[in-house]
Formats: sequence, C-alpha cells, structure tokens
Amino acid sequence: MPVFAFQLGHQPHISRAEIFSVLNVYTIVYKILPDYGQFLFLEIKAAFSPIKFIKILGGTIKIIENLELPDLKENTIADYLNTTIPAGKINFSISGLNAERLAIAVKKKLKEHDRTVRYITPKNTATILHNDLVKTESDITIVYNSVYITRAIQPIEEFSERDYGRPQSDAKSGMLPPKLARILINLAYISETKQKQVTILDPFCGSGTILLEALDLGYENIFGSDISTQAIADTKKNIDWLKKQKNIFVSPKIFLASATDLQTTLPHKSIDAIITEPYLGKPLRGHETKPYLMTQTQELKELYTQTFGSFQKILKPDGIVIFVIPEFKFKNDWITVDCLSMIKKIGFQIIPFSKNEESLFYARPGQLVGRRIWKLKKSTA
Ligand SMILES: C[S@@+](CC[C@H](N)C(=O)[O-])C[C@H]1O[C@@H](n2cnc3c(N)ncnc32)[C@H](O)[C@@H]1O
Repeated sequence: MPVFAFQLGHQPHISRAEIFSVLNVYTIVYKILPDYGQFLFLEIKAAFSPIKFIKILGGTIKIIENLELPDLKENTIADYLNTTIPAGKINFSISGLNAERLAIAVKKKLKEHDRTVRYITPKNTATILHNDLVKTESDITIVYNSVYITRAIQPIEEFSERDYGRPQSDAKSGMLPPKLARILINLAYISETKQKQVTILDPFCGSGTILLEALDLGYENIFGSDISTQAIADTKKNIDWLKKQKNIFVSPKIFLASATDLQTTLPHKSIDAIITEPYLGKPLRGHETKPYLMTQTQELKELYTQTFGSFQKILKPDGIVIFVIPEFKFKNDWITVDCLSMIKKIGFQIIPFSKNEESLFYARPGQLVGRRIWKLKKSTA
C-alpha cells in the first residue's frame, strides 16, 4: 500500500483530527504509521486522491507520497527525475535533511546526462505552486530517510483571497481564520452522500466565514443568522462575492435572529448540524483583572446555556453541534466558561475526537483568547 505523509498546519493535533474525520467520511481505509514531527504518515489504498483531499482539508499544508526508492543517493534521485521528466528542462526542488547538498549533487548528475536543469530553493509552498512542481512531480522531500514526492499543496491563495479579498471582514470581533472555519465543518463528520441534503447552520455568522467555507465545500442547504444587522448585511455581501468568484448557484438563507431564540424562525427538528464560533466576549487587551474575566465568563455561560436550549429545539434527533468555547489567558492560566454540565443537562452528549481527545484546544502564541472546540450530539432520549 502506498505511504502518504500529510504535512500538518500550526496546530498539528487539530489537523490530525480533521484528516481522520474527512478520511472516515469518504470511507478511505488507512493504517496509521508512527508520527514524525510535522508529518502524519498513513498507508492508504490506491483509491486515494491527494488533489481531491487537499481541496477539502483546512489544516494540511501538503500531501506527499513515498517513492519507495532504494536509497537517498544522488544517482537514484537523478535517475528518478530523468525518467519522470523525459524531455525539456528539469525544474526540481528538495527539502529536508541535507537537502541543499543533495540537490547540488543531483543537479551535477543530471548535467552529466546532458539535461538542462534548475534547482529551485523551496522557500515555501508558494514557490512550489508557482513553479508547477506538483504537476512535474519534481518537488522532493526527504523525511525519515525516505524520498517523498509532493502530490498536492494547499490552495493557499484561495484561502487568503477569502480571508483578505472578500468585500466585508469582521476585524472588530476578531475574525475566525478561514482554514479553521473549514476544519470546524470537516470535524462535523457529515457523510459524503449526505452533504448535498444536510441542513447546516451558523447562528453567530459574523461576516460569514464558516458559511463561505461551507459554500466552497459544496454544501447546498446552508443557514446563517446573527443578532447584528451589520453582520447580516456583511455576510450577504460576502456570499454574493464568493458565488460570483466561483460560479456557485446555491443560495444560503441568512436571517436576523438571536441564537437564543432560533426556534421562532426555524422549524423544530429541522437542522442536521450547527457549526459555529459563538460570540467570544469583548476583545481583551491583556491587562484585565480576574474579576472582570470572571464576570465575562459568567455572561457567556448564560448566553451559551440559552443558546443550547434553542439548539435542542431546532436540531433533528442525533443532530451535531461543533461549538467553540473560549478560554481567557490570565497570567499563566486559562480561565474557561464552565458551561458543559449545563449543556449536558439540556440534552447533549460530548463526542470525543479520539480516544484521548474530548476536545481540541486552538491557541496561537501570544493570543489572549484560546478556542476549545467541542463536538456534541443531541441526545435521543
Ligand atoms: C466571534 S463573532 C463570529 C465571527 C464569525 N465566526 C466570523 O468569523 O465571521 C460573533 C458574532 O456573534 C454575534 N452575536 C452576539 N450575540 C449574539 C446572539 N445572542 N445571537 C446571535 N449572534 C450574536 C455578533 O454580532 C458577532 O457577529
């Protein structure tokens, strides 16, 4: 079975959970091999298409495949490139241990074969994309003493277009990164066959980050709501923009509502999945007192409790919620919003992401607000 390595984003544990969720959705059979730094190694059957999966995932930087070459010598790699690119100029890059030295030796060998050759220093994935090295199968990575070839690279330009190029953004309330928004959707584990029918909702849609990712992923029954008229207007503008950009004809339904009161607009038991980053409190500056933070967490606890009361009504039996609960940095600790026991009482159960992970914590260095991602299911009882 071919071995693939997934280069994980800056929150590797979240990238891993997303990969497993998506592979399971598409019923891809895989075997997990030992980890190595930023890579997740999987043995996957031949039916796996890295190009298809990189377009779905939000947290994977690239997918590379083990070439199963007998060794790491310059002759072996030069032979590979010589046969893979039989005519014209060979553009290639190598990253990993001793890559530069190896690249120079490979280049020399190829020149001895009378080939025109250029070594491209792989500064980042953009360099590989711009030089088309995925298509020519000549972006090489040395990991674990094996030679890997890049099969697919994250469409970073599309993400940054949706992040910075869209008409309306939400800097004030702190925007959710589009890659994380996509991960949240993928963590909901909606089976491939159902993706066109399921109803998904973001009831704190802000400027629509999650909704745009859902639209881009191909969901067709998308709902979004927010308590702010400005947010609703921004979301609508952003959706129209993406639809034009990508020639999408699906029209999400966007409406003004408090997340605590969704049942007044949406029919009972009508939604399959709620995927949301809720209101996370007032932005922090870093010098807030503990009592201030405690008051904020208490307010959020009330908001989230009422919100789940409403979710309970509009979700179908077995409906799923992907929900972000913030944690606030205070000195060396994180203060959390203690609302899970209430949420369970309302009628939800936690679905762990793996044997050892009940939730997934997302925080970048220096951030004052961390995000803990939870997956919950409406209890049928
Ligand atoms: C953290 S933002 C969501 C950002 C969004 N995920 C994005 O990246 O575009 C929170 C949003 O919650 C909205 N909000 C606050 N209280 C609400 C409530 N009770 N019901 C619905 N929306 C609410 C705010 O108007 C704001 O747009």
